Amino acid sequence: MCGIVGYAGGRPALDIVMDGLRRLEYRGYDSAGVAIVDAISGLAVEKAAGKLINLEKALAERIDTGFDIGMTGIGHTRWATHGGPTDRNAHPHVSADGRVAVIHNGIIENFAALRASLEADGVEFRSDTDTEVAAHLMAAEMRALRGSLEGPALLAEAMRLVARRLEGAFTLLAVSPDVPDAVVAARRNSPLVVGRGKGENFLASDVSAFMEHTREAIELGQDQVVLITPESVEITGFDGSPATGTAFVVDWDVAAATKGGYDFYMLKEIAEQPQAVADTLLSRFPDLSLDEVRKVVIIACGTAYHAGMIAGYAIEQWARIPCDVELASEFRYKDPILDASTLVIAISQSGETMDTLMALRHAKAQGARVLAICNTNGSTIPRESDAVLYTHGGPEIAVASTKAFLTQLVACYQVGLRLGAARGFSHADVTAALRAVPDQLRALLTRTDEIRELAYDLATARQVLFIGRHVGYPVALEGALKLKELAYMHAEGFAAGELKHGPIALIDEGTPVICVLPAPGDPLHGKVVSNIQEVRARGARTIVIAEEGDETIVPFADDVIRVPVTPALLAPLMTTVPMQILACEIAAARGHDVDQPRNLAKSVTVE
Ligand code: F6R
Repeated sequence: MCGIVGYAGGRPALDIVMDGLRRLEYRGYDSAGVAIVDAISGLAVEKAAGKLINLEKALAERIDTGFDIGMTGIGHTRWATHGGPTDRNAHPHVSADGRVAVIHNGIIENFAALRASLEADGVEFRSDTDTEVAAHLMAAEMRALRGSLEGPALLAEAMRLVARRLEGAFTLLAVSPDVPDAVVAARRNSPLVVGRGKGENFLASDVSAFMEHTREAIELGQDQVVLITPESVEITGFDGSPATGTAFVVDWDVAAATKGGYDFYMLKEIAEQPQAVADTLLSRFPDLSLDEVRKVVIIACGTAYHAGMIAGYAIEQWARIPCDVELASEFRYKDPILDASTLVIAISQSGETMDTLMALRHAKAQGARVLAICNTNGSTIPRESDAVLYTHGGPEIAVASTKAFLTQLVACYQVGLRLGAARGFSHADVTAALRAVPDQLRALLTRTDEIRELAYDLATARQVLFIGRHVGYPVALEGALKLKELAYMHAEGFAAGELKHGPIALIDEGTPVICVLPAPGDPLHGKVVSNIQEVRARGARTIVIAEEGDETIVPFADDVIRVPVTPALLAPLMTTVPMQILACEIAAARGHDVDQPRNLAKSVTVE
């Protein structure tokens, strides 16, 4: 949610900041803006509602020299929370005296009280955002500190004083023409990483913004302020006590964050799934004793929650341990029964999802141990967990999750197998089947054209329903979620057995129903075939995702999409892929922006 970049170095800051914003635009694209500072030209600010392209156009019309020569700058791409996505609400926000520009990710919960007190002092606000209070407060603190402090130390102390007054979640970055070679930032419950270069340093919401310039990164702790200049990175607590972050090396491939010839990031990321799965199969399992685990609770949101649902089936079957799967946004407000023998698994691609983070803290407070399954090194959820199993999907830029989902599944299966092994169960057959998955996915992906044709056909449908049983049920939910978020169509996933308890009333002549069919030997195969017949009898167009060689379905299917043969619990690794391609192609056929669907952002760092 909101992308943030900061730069202090020896090169023109505007180019570097804009380039960083292009890489972070997936985090929010309601509006964008930059502030560049220079000792001679002062502060230059430009911002524009809408996608980054609008800011680029606005900048092309500016002739201020400040933008050309400034070597310190900040940039922001916004996902609106307080105040609509307009030019005036776009960041940066500048203090009334013009001496400070700030950008912000998160929500300042006590902004109304702060704004009222600033207004009582005569400050005039120019936006509806919560962020603007921080600009005025920074300026006031700097004025008060002048005389006792100067230069970067002045900027850092002003930020610490401001941060201590703010409630809520925030990453705040500020620059001032009075301290033209420094950027200061504060972080609480919202992402921020530092990139260390030679004669230049970076700040960003995630490493993709600077990884083409440096691979050396520092992950900040909670309630810390960081000051960067071209030569230094100085970290303190909000109280000024010296602090250090955790250094790490970015191992993502720069090319992985480009479209690489595909029309959309999403298509490229779908195509990367065989490799992402293969890499995740080689993940190092963390040093975490599983012998004492009596209960598992999985917490996650959205697509990651669907991965968690599938994990629940696998863990109970392989390890015979009770497993609850909870939406993090619900779990965090429950009064759960957990103790030290409970293993909580927090699944998150970004590692920054606020609801999952808060659910994790809630679980820890009850004494549970937390294992994170995460794709993003340096993010908050792994840092606050007892152990982490990294997925190796590489950067996922498209807002709709694809390769992250498949790699989360692989990681979940690995946990399930380990839990099983700790209880004396051996599932060598599953391990062997997992190894075959990357090649099977490669074969499956050669059939993209067939699915594309079907997508053109479905693009004008009024609604699309998805049904499945057992692990096919979360796959149905995931298929519907993808279609909703990308194609803006009414799409619902149902447990096929629930149809006659209500949803079957939705079906009329020609309603497409996408059916996830278990393998022929599966006890649920016949049940799903019956459900398919039921919907067909009511006029549905049945599109069946079936295993290769299963001919039993042919009489009842209007279309069949074939997937490779896998053990039942692993089938979601195959059956999800056609759903991803369908959603992507239907959205494209309807003329939507596949990578940046409306109203969404990649990483949801607010509640
Ligand atoms: C849907 C999607 C979201 C995320 C959810 C959790 O395509 O991407 O539903 O899965 O917001 O995000 P992470 O995994 O970053 O916690």
